[in-house]
Amino acid sequence: MRICVVGAGYVGLVSAAVLAEWGHDVTCVDNDEEKIAQLQSGVLPVYEDGLLEMAARNRSEGRLHFRVDLAQALTQRELVMIAVGTPAGKNGNPDLSAVWNVVKSLKECSTGQITLVIKSTVPVGTCEAVAEFLYHDEERFDVVSAPEFLRQGTAIRDYLAPDRMVFGCQTSRAKQVMQDLFRSLECPVIFTDWHSSEMIKYAANAFLALKISYINLIANLSEKVGGNVQDVAQGVGLDRRIGPAFLKPGVGFGGSCLPKDTRALVALGEENGVNVWLLRDVLQINFEQRVHIVKKLEEVLGGLEGKKIAVLGLSFKPNTGDVREAPALTIISRILERGGKAAAYDPVVDMEALSREIPFIPALDPYDAVSGAHAVVFLTEWGEFAKLDLRRIRGLLKFPLLIDGRHIFDPQALKALGFVSQSYDSRPVLEFMSAK
Ligand code: UDX
Ligand code: UDX
Repeated sequence: MRICVVGAGYVGLVSAAVLAEWGHDVTCVDNDEEKIAQLQSGVLPVYEDGLLEMAARNRSEGRLHFRVDLAQALTQRELVMIAVGTPAGKNGNPDLSAVWNVVKSLKECSTGQITLVIKSTVPVGTCEAVAEFLYHDEERFDVVSAPEFLRQGTAIRDYLAPDRMVFGCQTSRAKQVMQDLFRSLECPVIFTDWHSSEMIKYAANAFLALKISYINLIANLSEKVGGNVQDVAQGVGLDRRIGPAFLKPGVGFGGSCLPKDTRALVALGEENGVNVWLLRDVLQINFEQRVHIVKKLEEVLGGLEGKKIAVLGLSFKPNTGDVREAPALTIISRILERGGKAAAYDPVVDMEALSREIPFIPALDPYDAVSGAHAVVFLTEWGEFAKLDLRRIRGLLKFPLLIDGRHIFDPQALKALGFVSQSYDSRPVLEFMSAK
């Protein structure tokens, strides 16, 4: 098939590379000229395992092309996939302007029969509105809602081995095109209407967010009343009706989807007079997990004025360089607001660029960050952090406070090394010493 993928973000790039790998002729278009120039010279703007090799192979074999000009890229295509961003706009409602720009161009520039596949996360009712707009004077378009469930860091693997695929189709022709396009994937497939398909994406992401906030609520309770939340999470998760995934307590969720999509559902509920307190609480608990860390620092260190805090891990989770809605951003900003300094290190994030937005000190490595700091906070569970020489870290710190926001270390081992530590295992955790 001749395919155009619009948007060269995580979803767009992975879709384009995989579809080219399956033998289709794919043009991936993005309005960010710098991004396209990078892609044309073989550089990937995102860090994603396996994507560079797959993209390079398909480019060199002539099946994958990168372009800026949307109108040109849309000509002579049979299938157009929209994967532009839908960032949170006013009141938590997603900003759909990028999606509508593509739809308008498509109506003007395309010729022949076209299947339009909407991968971007869009509010319930969007596909219907798009279809009404496109079908107004011609019937050569089919609109499909095809939400994407890939996770950053394991995006290609998730794309090729999904738990399920969901398609919102209104015609048998569109259904057939989807069956043909994804025939090599073996997984349950749900064909449904546009509205249900759009809702499935939001409901799934908000449920993942709910699980994380729920276990964080239990972690906070356990911290007060005693009990090891890791054991609690395991004991709860082994019930097959609940499942063990997304019960990792800690500093909470970030990224481009869970926070945005939960907020979008809250906005949808409020606009329609439906009680969405549960989801508001999910977001509030998540915010408080971040605040909680700064409060701990202040409590133990007796204020943050003039204190240097080492922050290890900036991305919203390991194996990605993405810092969108990352807990580290909120936490560093709060440290700075309270008169502290932050020295931060992350193995993949572009620290120089980020430090121009939030004035932290970019460190050369974890030891450099920790050197002369009053405390160290771990906010991303990068594999390399688990191998750090903790004795050396202890020696470099001015005060031995270690806050493990991702449960990387064994609290007993930290205690044995002389750390004052706070992790999400409440058994032997805090022995408050005053550093005032
Ligand atoms: C995807 C979905 O598209 C989004 O709706 C969902 O909520 C999360 O997953 P992602 O691939 O992570 O988003 O987005 P991002 O990495 O922000 O990439 C979007 C791309 O679209 C960017 O490269 C941006 O430059 C491009 N874009 C944006 C356009 O090409 N045209 C526009 O008008 C706007
Ligand atoms: C998510 C969805 O998982 C995916 O299906 C959807 O397509 C896009 O949004 P992603 O944002 O890449 O994927 O990350 P995910 O792995 O879901 O993690 C989100 C956040 O939750 C991270 O900040 C992570 O650290 C946090 N998390 C995850 C926890 O705090 N505890 C957990 O148990 C699991």
